[in-house]
Amino acid sequence: MNLEQLEQKAKESIALVQDIQGLEKWRIQYLGRKSALSLFFNSLSKLSLQERKKQGEKANKIRKILTNLYSSKKTELEKDVFESNKGSSSLLDITQPGDKKTKGHLHPLTLITRDIVASFEKMGFSIIEGPEIETEYYNFDALNIPADHPAREMWDTLWIKPKTKNQKSKMLLRTHTSPMQVRYMEKNQPPFRIIVPGRCFRYEATDASHEIQFYQIEGLMVGEDINLSNFKAIISEIIKDIFKHKVSVRFRPSFFPFVSPGVEVDIKQEIKGDQSNDKWLEIMGAGMVHPDLFKRVGYENNRWQGFAFGLGIERVAMIKYKINDIRLFFNPDIRFLEQF
Ligand code: FA5
Repeated sequence: MNLEQLEQKAKESIALVQDIQGLEKWRIQYLGRKSALSLFFNSLSKLSLQERKKQGEKANKIRKILTNLYSSKKTELEKDVFESNKGSSSLLDITQPGDKKTKGHLHPLTLITRDIVASFEKMGFSIIEGPEIETEYYNFDALNIPADHPAREMWDTLWIKPKTKNQKSKMLLRTHTSPMQVRYMEKNQPPFRIIVPGRCFRYEATDASHEIQFYQIEGLMVGEDINLSNFKAIISEIIKDIFKHKVSVRFRPSFFPFVSPGVEVDIKQEIKGDQSNDKWLEIMGAGMVHPDLFKRVGYENNRWQGFAFGLGIERVAMIKYKINDIRLFFNPDIRFLEQF
């Protein structure tokens, strides 16, 4: 076969091609499996080694030239099509299924925290934040829990190694958000109502309702005539707002050294599809602020009263979303997270 002639013919015929379909025909004729060039390659094996090498090189060169011709013609034709269709919808195939866009979403604890915070905001509470690394003083002593007080055992603590031997106050990972009560009152005069959302840590064994790290929302409302009925009314409203449906709530007497009297609040936890397993889940500790704390921060004697509470965020989420194990929140299993 005369390769030079073939090249010449291919060049002449591609110059006449006017559309993509014509170009495809050209490709099949000059570069396809049954083209003269491909057949020529197949026949090379019959030649002597020396001749095969010579003819092979020549044919390869031509194939490269034709392939380049094809690519540049294709780009040129596609550009023409694009230009002539600009502004019209003929290039858009609306029968094609769309691309599925996978979207991230918020963690259930973020969702529930936002809900709870929004409910308190509606009732005029301001949002304050505090440090996760605390001093022993604010976490314990300022809350009437000195080193030898048995109540320290209620909060198994993760202590932080002191940097120097004579460091004044021992440091720890806060075991609750209550240290913010004294921190806030030291700098602010009543009346006020605040909440403090934040992470807490406890050195304790985990189970279905206990984690070593969890979130609380501290609440503190102080004024001249705030009483425990105000606390009950506000918390009942908040619970109604968060759950949007009726939930059973109960208030039980309890003890915390920084409140008097102290209470705990439980909500009935309904387990998906199994009413016989319903049980009460403690969601917060609370009470009337102990007068010692007002004295400690220098408030005028006998003038102020207030309530404080510490609400467990995971526990509320467990009840709202009917989750029976707190450990699922910190588990990276995507199947759990995709439910929200
Ligand atoms: C306290 O932490 C007190 N600071 C609460 C308080 C504040 C009392 C203000 C009075 C006045 P308690 O240890 O019970 O209390 O924790 C409060 C809530 O945090 C619990 O009801 C529970 O909902 C949640 N909680 C406590 N420990 C864990 C844990 N290990 N894992 C998950 N949630 C927890």
